[in-house]
Amino acid sequence: MRTPPSIRCRSNRCRCDRWRHWRRGCWCAGTRCRTIANCGQGSRAVEFDTVIHGGTIVTASERYAGDIGITDGRICAVAERLAGGTRRIDAGGRLVMPGGIEAHAHIAQESASGIMTADGYLSGSISAAFGGNSSFIPFAAQHRGQSIDDVIATYDARARPSVIDYSWHLIVSDPTEEVLHDQLPRAFARGITSLKVFTTYDLLNIGDAGMLDILSVARDHGALTMVHAENHAMVAWMNGELGARGLTAPKYHALSRPELAEEEAINRAITLAQLSGAPLFVVHVSTAGGAARVQRARGEGGQVFAETCPQYLALTRDDLDRPGMEGAKFICSPPLRDAATQDALWRHVQTGTFDSVSSDHAPYRFDGTGKLMHGQGAPYPKIANGMPGIAARLPWLFSEGVVKGRLRLEDFVALTSTNAARIFGAAKKGRITPGMDADIAIWNPEAVRKVTLADQHDNMDFTPFEGMELTGVPEIVMTRGEVIVAHGTLHGKEGQGRFFARAPMGRTGRPGMPVKEVELMRAGAGQ
Ligand code: URP
Ligand code: ZN
Ligand code: ZN
Repeated sequence: MRTPPSIRCRSNRCRCDRWRHWRRGCWCAGTRCRTIANCGQGSRAVEFDTVIHGGTIVTASERYAGDIGITDGRICAVAERLAGGTRRIDAGGRLVMPGGIEAHAHIAQESASGIMTADGYLSGSISAAFGGNSSFIPFAAQHRGQSIDDVIATYDARARPSVIDYSWHLIVSDPTEEVLHDQLPRAFARGITSLKVFTTYDLLNIGDAGMLDILSVARDHGALTMVHAENHAMVAWMNGELGARGLTAPKYHALSRPELAEEEAINRAITLAQLSGAPLFVVHVSTAGGAARVQRARGEGGQVFAETCPQYLALTRDDLDRPGMEGAKFICSPPLRDAATQDALWRHVQTGTFDSVSSDHAPYRFDGTGKLMHGQGAPYPKIANGMPGIAARLPWLFSEGVVKGRLRLEDFVALTSTNAARIFGAAKKGRITPGMDADIAIWNPEAVRKVTLADQHDNMDFTPFEGMELTGVPEIVMTRGEVIVAHGTLHGKEGQGRFFARAPMGRTGRPGMPVKEVELMRAGAGQ
């Protein structure tokens, strides 16, 4: 073992002339020297790489005035005041929060019909960082016939340029025996402990039987199944009815995917999860009925999680009725709803039904590479689903949630970072406490800005949030102690982000939603 060097104590606070071990603090500790901090790496305030001082630290549970000491990319001290630091960042008048974790983003991903998103991992991660995110978990999508090992190898290569840390949720569209019993367990063992399934889209919908298979395998390995829930047959039927009437302009997309279709599919997904005894995460909930079903399942003891997205709170189906093809920019699935649904969704955000608010960043440009691939005037079923929003998510939620008095600051942190870290097993992220990665965003809570396309720093040619006036700006964003963005300037370097493995879900302390017949079956089999 290497013996740590002894160095002369040069702490701001300690004036002693003693020598100390590099990792053990000053030998006079407890008498004259007060530089001992709770740093696992060492204990000399003067040797922090970075100290963020003078700000208000906000976590998912509290806020307080304090300083943060960072060494080797980790938070190693949080105290009322910390001296030293090779670099000192003045956070006076600012909020110091865990950097956002974007848990729903489509980056360098082909849609089922083969359209590539406009953002790869370089532009996608830069845009995320400008929006206050220190890490993200986009999707790694399996297309039918593809092995999960190939999917992971593909995204390994695609993600290399990322400037922030990343992990992936798998998308599984082809649950063969090999996928279920060989390939998925290998992916889980690598720390990719969540996967998403679809109940809709011709090339992704896996059906009830496929979903039960996946839920069971995920349960056995402590992985979390996420679901895009819309009833495929109901949507297909509505498409037929609308098409027969010649109603194919973008605004009819909203009618083609009724609230009922989401509510039915969420109910079904929760019921299938109940039968298989697996946890479930319902993505982009857009309806009051769907949110209420999630709430009910939790009340019954289910390990059911859910998110909604800013677009369902900020925009309505009227946006799909903008002149010409402009409405195509607002086509996403599930679709935008109405003002009454927005109010109901806000109540669910406020009362804890939603664990997170994610962007569902699905960037398809308003040109022939994306939304208009099938030409100007294409019928709505031929227009790519999805909208960008990875840079707007946090500023929008801060402004509309915290500044407008709908959310506490602590709720904002929980909804944008801490809950995602907990649910998806990112053990070193989403909290400001010693030992965690120094993934930190420093916000100016009073700065006012109008949303512009340029400020999104993505590879898009529109933002659905254009022109909205928002209060609160993430001024400095760090990933593992490195400043990625500061005051509107990119400092992060291509490839600086790292893959982070995630832990499986803990199941202890959960009552679950037992199913009589399943219990009897297990008892009969002596399980
Ligand atoms: O419309 C959306 N949200 N497109 C992205 C893919 C998905 O369904 O999540
Ligand atoms: Zn989806
Ligand atoms: Zn999505």
